[in-house]
Amino acid sequence: MDIPLCDLKAQYASIADEVDPKVREVIASTRYIGGPEVSGFEKEFAEFSQSPHCVGVASGTAALHLAFIGAGMEPGDEVITVSHTFIATAEPIAPLGGKVRFVDIDEDTYNMDVSQIENAITEKTKILLPVHLYGQPVDMDPILEIAEKHDLTVIEDAAQAHGAVYKGERVCGSMGALATFSFYPGKNLGAYGDAGAILAKDAAVADRMNRLANHGRADKYLHDEEGYNFRLDALQAAILRIKLRHLSSWTEERRRVAALYQERLSGLSGVIAPKVASFANPVWHLYVIRVPERDRVLQGLRDSGIDAGVHYPVPLHLQPAYRYLGYEEGSLPVTEKVAKEILSLPIFPEMTEAQVDRVVTTLKSLL
Ligand SMILES: Cc1ncc(COP(=O)(O)O)c(C=O)c1O
Repeated sequence: MDIPLCDLKAQYASIADEVDPKVREVIASTRYIGGPEVSGFEKEFAEFSQSPHCVGVASGTAALHLAFIGAGMEPGDEVITVSHTFIATAEPIAPLGGKVRFVDIDEDTYNMDVSQIENAITEKTKILLPVHLYGQPVDMDPILEIAEKHDLTVIEDAAQAHGAVYKGERVCGSMGALATFSFYPGKNLGAYGDAGAILAKDAAVADRMNRLANHGRADKYLHDEEGYNFRLDALQAAILRIKLRHLSSWTEERRRVAALYQERLSGLSGVIAPKVASFANPVWHLYVIRVPERDRVLQGLRDSGIDAGVHYPVPLHLQPAYRYLGYEEGSLPVTEKVAKEILSLPIFPEMTEAQVDRVVTTLKSLL
C-alpha cells in the first residue's frame, strides 16, 4: 500500500533515537517484569489522563476483564454497552458469568445513544460501559446521572480515546469509576506488542486489580485470591513512556489531518463526513466516513494503493459468537445501517497534505 491506514514505520523512524537506547538499557537491566519502567508509566499515564490510579496490564482486553471484576461484577449481572465496537468490549463479560445487553448508537457520532439506556436497565444491571469509539468522547454527563440514579458502575472503554476531551476539560478515562485503555500497536498510544491499562478512582479497587493482574499476589508466594497473569511488561512500559511524551503533539497532527479531510469532503455529495459533537474534542483514532456502495469504494481505494478499512463490518449482536443472546437482524437499526456504510480513511500524525489530497481525489473518482 502506498498510503497505509496508519504509518507505524514513519512513527518509529521519528523516535528511533530515543527508543533504541532505552530498549537496550531495559534489556541490560534485566528488570523485565514489574520494576521502575512499569510504575513510572503508570504514574505518568494516570497524570496524563487526570486519574488518581493507573494499573498497567497486558492488553486492553485484560484491562476490561479486570475492570469488570474491579466493578464487583457477579454471575448474573448485566452490562449495558454498544454493539458497534470491537468484540473485546464485551468479550470478558460472559466468561465472568455476566450478560451483555446492547443498545443502539447515535447516528451522528456512532457512539452510545444515551436516550436508550434507561429502557435497557433491569434489576440485574450492574455496569454501564460506554465506548469512546474512533477517539470521540461519548456524552458522559447523562450516563453518569443515570448511573447515580440506578446505583450502577460506569466503566469507560477508552481503548481508542487516549487524551480525548469532554466538555473542554474532562479527559476520557477520568469520568467513570473505572476506565480501560488499549496500547495495541496501531492505537494513538501504541506499544510494540500488546499492552493496556486500567484507570481507577478508588485506591483499594486499583490495588486489588493490580494484585489480580499478578496472580493475586499479596507477596511473592502468598496469594490472597486466584488471579491472572495480566501484567504489563517492562519493555512495553519503557516504550510507552517515550511515546507518551509525544502523544499530545501526535494528537495535534491527527487533528490537522482530520481538519484537512473535513474541509475537502464538506459538501461532497454521497459522503457523510464525521460529525463532531459540541461537547467533544476527539483524538481521531480513526477518520470514518459513510458512503453508498461501501464495499466497491473500499476495493477501489485499495486497488489504488490506499489502505482504507471498516471498523466494524459486523456488529457484535449479529456475530456468530453472540447468536445465543437472541438478537434478531433489525433489533439495532442504526448500528446495522451504519455498519454497511462506514469506511475508515487513512489517518496518522505523519500524514502529509499531499497524501490527504490523493485519498480525496481517489475517493471522488470512485463515487
Ligand atoms: C474499543 C476497543 N475495546 C477494546 C479493545 C481491546 O484492546 P486490546 O487489543 O489491547 O486487547 C480494542 C482494541 O483492539 C478496542 O478498539
